[in-house]
Amino acid sequence: MYPVIVKGTGAYLPERVLTNHDLEQMVDTSDEWIRQRTGILERRLASGEQATSDLSFNAARQALEMSGLAAEDLDSVIIATVTPDYLTPSTAAFVQHRLGAVKAAAFDLNAACTGFVYSLCVASGLISSGIQRNVLIVGAETLSRFVDFTDRNTCILFGDGAGAMVLSRGEDGATSRVIDHYLRADGGGWDLITIPAGGSRKAAGPSTVDAREHFFTMQGREVFKFAVSSMIELLETAFQRNSLSVEDIDLVIPHQVNYRVIESVLRKIPIPADRVYLNLDRYGNTSAASVPIALHEAAGEGRLKKGDIVLLVAFGGGLTWGYNLLRW
Ligand code: UT7
Repeated sequence: MYPVIVKGTGAYLPERVLTNHDLEQMVDTSDEWIRQRTGILERRLASGEQATSDLSFNAARQALEMSGLAAEDLDSVIIATVTPDYLTPSTAAFVQHRLGAVKAAAFDLNAACTGFVYSLCVASGLISSGIQRNVLIVGAETLSRFVDFTDRNTCILFGDGAGAMVLSRGEDGATSRVIDHYLRADGGGWDLITIPAGGSRKAAGPSTVDAREHFFTMQGREVFKFAVSSMIELLETAFQRNSLSVEDIDLVIPHQVNYRVIESVLRKIPIPADRVYLNLDRYGNTSAASVPIALHEAAGEGRLKKGDIVLLVAFGGGLTWGYNLLRW
């Protein structure tokens, strides 16, 4: 097994800001309700011209630049998203082409909010096995195109954005490296978060458009409970599998879902709050993009020192959940 190292990270957030006060003008809600129930203050929206591949490209270019690699060095481009530009071709194909990653394979990965964590595991497998050397992974979403801005249960939560990472084969004995992964799924909970129409189960037509079935539907309370229990399972599993205690973890980067989810988890597992990175107040829930955006920001703010143990945890539609453990 070859060591897998992080060579670069990047993030891109569209400029347009949608505040809670803006949402007060759109649905029956209040800034106070949204703050108290979620911790979100504002989120970003892609411009009319921007699709998921555009957000991805901006984040990817930054990660590639930091890595010091050329686009031709990439062996794969993987985009984790549930809001692709098209059903086909993949969003990754657009990013591969625009970057000039002429030697790379390109494919999308759909594991909803856990997509980036899944991608990091897949990319690590490609590299550690010796099949590939350099892989670009991106978590990117343009959720605003699939959110029903007449549904107060969902429209207050989501935002658009992209985060990227370049992973490479490291030198033998590299201390900064990817250490462990753990991925899970339970398709029995498929209907807790779904876009009901537009796929092969229920093809798009005038009736599906009239019924607003091309937007996300979500059973918020159930998803909340799942988020808390899966995050606890992920932390406990990471500790157990790697013989770590709470004190050994320098930074947890959770999927940015809801401040109350994190609070509930920390009541059960007493990780000091300053070791859990949160930026959901500014960006809301950006699904597959949330973990890599947070990681990039945490690194940029000096929250990660060489040798730190970092745990990325995510959970979401599918249902899916998983973690990656890294030594920075
Ligand atoms: O990445 C995974 C994606 N999913 C998520 O992130 C969702 C996780 N779930 C949550 O974050 C929370 O469940 C929500 C924020 C969605 C909802 O919070 P909650 O504390 O679970 O509220 P609730 O669904 O139990 O609703 C409580 C009340 C209801 O009114 P009644 O029935 O008690 O009269 C809702 O109709 O709050 C009402 N409500 C709202 N009120 C004002 C629901 N949404 C809103 C709103 N503004 N935006």
